Amino acid sequence: MERKWWHDKVAYQIYPKSFMDSNGDGIGDLQGIIRKLDYLKDLGVDILWLSPIYCSPLADEGYDISDYYAIDPRFGTMEDMEELIAEAKKRGLTILMDLVVNHCSDEHEWFKKACEDPEGRYGKFFYLRDKDPGGKLPTNWRSYFGGPSWAELPGTDKLYLHVFHTKQPDLNWENPELREEVYRNIRWWMEKGIGGFRIDAIINIKKPAVFHDYPADRDDGLSSIQNMLLEAEGIGEFLGEMRDKAFAPYDAFTVGEVFNEREEDIPLFIGDGGYFSTMFDFTAEIFGRSEKGWFDTKRLTIDDFRECMFAAHRKIGDIGFYSTIIENHDEPRGVSRYLTDEMRTEGGKKALATVYFLRRGLPFIYQGQEIGMENKRIRTVAELDDISSIDAYKVAVDAGISKERALETLTFFSRDNARTPMQWNEEAHAGFTKGEPWLAENPNYTCINVQEQLGREDSVLAYYKKLIALRKDPGYKETFVYGAFEPLPDCGHNVIAYLRKGGAQTILVAANFNTGERQIKLPAGGCTGGKTLLVNEGEAAFDGSVLTLKGLQAAVILLKI
Ligand code: GLC
Ligand code: CA
Repeated sequence: MERKWWHDKVAYQIYPKSFMDSNGDGIGDLQGIIRKLDYLKDLGVDILWLSPIYCSPLADEGYDISDYYAIDPRFGTMEDMEELIAEAKKRGLTILMDLVVNHCSDEHEWFKKACEDPEGRYGKFFYLRDKDPGGKLPTNWRSYFGGPSWAELPGTDKLYLHVFHTKQPDLNWENPELREEVYRNIRWWMEKGIGGFRIDAIINIKKPAVFHDYPADRDDGLSSIQNMLLEAEGIGEFLGEMRDKAFAPYDAFTVGEVFNEREEDIPLFIGDGGYFSTMFDFTAEIFGRSEKGWFDTKRLTIDDFRECMFAAHRKIGDIGFYSTIIENHDEPRGVSRYLTDEMRTEGGKKALATVYFLRRGLPFIYQGQEIGMENKRIRTVAELDDISSIDAYKVAVDAGISKERALETLTFFSRDNARTPMQWNEEAHAGFTKGEPWLAENPNYTCINVQEQLGREDSVLAYYKKLIALRKDPGYKETFVYGAFEPLPDCGHNVIAYLRKGGAQTILVAANFNTGERQIKLPAGGCTGGKTLLVNEGEAAFDGSVLTLKGLQAAVILLKI
């Protein structure tokens, strides 16, 4: 495998609106991020991915862009952005922007011009269809955020396609002029000195050659977007062109948001010379999903989580690197999703961190994860900001689910869980803002916050720092970054264990999510090391062939030197 500058890095995702507010308007901003760069440097991360900060009506919190070349005034100015890039660089940090090009905003100039002249240049930037006098829509595809994925093109007798929200019209990638606009924008940002992009919803850019209906999968008569994605062939032509024309000239780091990747596509996507540097492993995030909606999703156990992890590694082998996560801005908090109430102690949170972080792949930390931030109890629908949660509630109630259970579902899955303000200290609004936060903070900030954990050696935060430092330790880096991943499959219920093997070195990573003690037998073959590299709490009892872990204990042991 060709070695790349980003292989040994650790990434951190910032959701700017909720990270740090510098001017008291309740909205996080670029100056707020600049103030926290030293904190991030001290944590030990290298790559900072910013969720979108471009001009946007914020219908989908910035994933609906109205100007790809400007910063939304709520987040700051282009000067602030340049300052952020420069200040980050001074600290050895690099910035990733979010590339949202499956769709733009309906307030983008291109869309406005398409409304004025659907037959003109900009009409061809979108998927437009004539309105049927009988009212039949061109297809019965259900948008991701609910309802049909066709809406009226204002002031015309046409419809436009939006696989996400009505305020997110899909861009027509079949049109080379549109593609050139996208590449121009990428190059423009690379010239500003960023390190690359996280690439949003990219799998949706390729549509089937012929648009048609699929069998309905709910009472609304609509069918999931997944059906059209399965039929769409040839996305590689677009992605290869984007790589060659926009990313490769800058050696940009790119991470794709790719769901349901086909096994045969992995080498093309992230093998040597692939379309992207890496892509997220969402195996655990999509586990148990139901077409009926969130309320019908099967919750996963630690055993399921382990199987998802092992399956992902079997799938990718050493073709390339996944980016590994336990949460992001679209998901609930990892410690709330993967740990039961019993497991959700600081020890359990550190154990979860250990097993995901030391996998083969590029670890991403989502803001607040490093202090063990948790889901927030959602009591009323009125509290919700996230458009997909509002839809999920409606879908549940329409399916006859009680309001109480529908709310419980939201407490478990809502994207708002990840979007509550970052918990900096125990002052009002968690120290995030001097004003009123745009989204209410999680009341548990009085116990879970950065300031408290900075002062405590056994905190979750201190443990994340140790994990990051261990992955970068010159003595083990080669094994953690490039070494093989070998599951230890039969360690029992609620136990996750695997080996990382590089050259002659073998390192065991193991965590016991039971509350009682468990033993992990090592495969025959001996042990010439036996040095504890990291343990979440207490001491690891290791005798050369058996590792005994106490309840919620995790350990990293050098087995062979
Ligand atoms: C991606 C983003 C999500 C957004 C969607 C539409 O999944 O992560 O936040 O709503 O794309 O852009
Ligand atoms: Ca602000």
